[in-house]
Amino acid sequence: MQITVVGQGYVGLPLAIAASLAQYTVFGLDNNQEKITALSMGKSIIEDLSDKSIKQGIESKCYLPTTDTLVIKDSDVVLICVPTPLSEDHKPDLTALISAITTVGRNLKAGTLVIVESTIEPGTCRNKLLPILIKESGLTESEFELSYSPERIDPTNKTWQINNTPKLVAGLTEAAANRAKDFYAKFIDSIILCSTLEIAETAKLLENSFRLINISFVNELSIYCQKIGIDIAEVIAAAATKPYGFMPFYPSVGVGGHCIPVDPIYLANAAKAAGAPIKFIELADVVNLNMPGYFVGRAEEKLAGLQNKKLLVIGLSYKPNVADVRESPVAALITGLKQKGADVSWHDDLVKEWNGEKSVALSDKYDLAILATPHDYLDLTKIGDVPVLNTRGSI
Ligand SMILES: NC(=O)c1ccc[n+]([C@@H]2O[C@H](COP(=O)([O-])OP(=O)(O)OC[C@H]3O[C@@H](n4cnc5c(N)ncnc54)[C@H](O)[C@@H]3O)[C@@H](O)[C@H]2O)c1
Repeated sequence: MQITVVGQGYVGLPLAIAASLAQYTVFGLDNNQEKITALSMGKSIIEDLSDKSIKQGIESKCYLPTTDTLVIKDSDVVLICVPTPLSEDHKPDLTALISAITTVGRNLKAGTLVIVESTIEPGTCRNKLLPILIKESGLTESEFELSYSPERIDPTNKTWQINNTPKLVAGLTEAAANRAKDFYAKFIDSIILCSTLEIAETAKLLENSFRLINISFVNELSIYCQKIGIDIAEVIAAAATKPYGFMPFYPSVGVGGHCIPVDPIYLANAAKAAGAPIKFIELADVVNLNMPGYFVGRAEEKLAGLQNKKLLVIGLSYKPNVADVRESPVAALITGLKQKGADVSWHDDLVKEWNGEKSVALSDKYDLAILATPHDYLDLTKIGDVPVLNTRGSI
């Protein structure tokens, strides 16, 4: 079987490699030439995959990175893993997805199974993507198959990876769902069929909204705990001893990455349009977006004003041990500190370069350090006696 995975990023690349290990011939299609050149040379572009696994895929000729959209014509299964971000005005932005599905439609041959993995609003597959596939391919609805299977990848998670994370699958028809199930079953242990495309689309949004809401809640609780002088980390550890009905979430500068701050807005947007707004998501979004400002205030309090103070922000990516800065709340923290007149440097040897600036070395030349994203490699003894504002929990 020949497969094309459209989008070779955090989701599409591990998926393509996993499928290639299951002896499928996999074209890793991306419109970013730089990425494809790096992958063709056996260089991984994400933390969770080694150069070795890319090289092995290429040497075995089971993984073929390419920018050539004609590979879609030769594929039995085409998977879509392109970004679905938010626009400048904080609304769902389907530009990349519509562009990818248009390309797939133009090259679609009869009998192909198209599986969308990108996160989308309920109804998107049926009402937006299917008509494009029909129009661009000139095929009828019954001449190809459409399925939705949301990705559940958690970068740097060593326990739950593609093969052992249960996968939701739905189809426009029962035949499409079963075909997608058979495809994934070659390299994923547990496949769960959902009865409709909309159930699978909504389930993904529920998963990520659940995280946004709970993280925002724990962030508000952490502000209260700080006010009354108790340690939120100890409160959470105590509550987490309950063996049922509780799941711990931890405070931070806010949520980041391409999923948790973004996907719930897709759900909130759809719910509002349907006349059934989900106020919890809207509130959680506001709380989350306010967290960097809260820590600017805490820094200001600690130093009795930030004008000309030398500040070091430690950790720039959105979560520990990744180099991904998409939607990182640390960017807003740095902007807020600068707006108050502080002289801000940042250290993150995983990110290295960002916005034309470079990561500085850890040292003791600062009035205050703000621990934003605690990567495992950090050696905080290097900042000596510089006071630390820890955004991750302690008072
Ligand atoms: N990152 C995660 O942890 C994660 C987890 C679960 C779900 N998702 C969802 O998966 C989807 C993809 O996210 P990601 O993090 O892999 O994004 P990414 O930005 O890491 O990768 C997407 C890739 O698609 C490519 N691309 C964009 N438009 C294209 C086109 N028209 N044709 C070919 N290639 C194109 C880009 O160049 C990029 O390499 C999103 O909908 C996201 O919400 C992401």
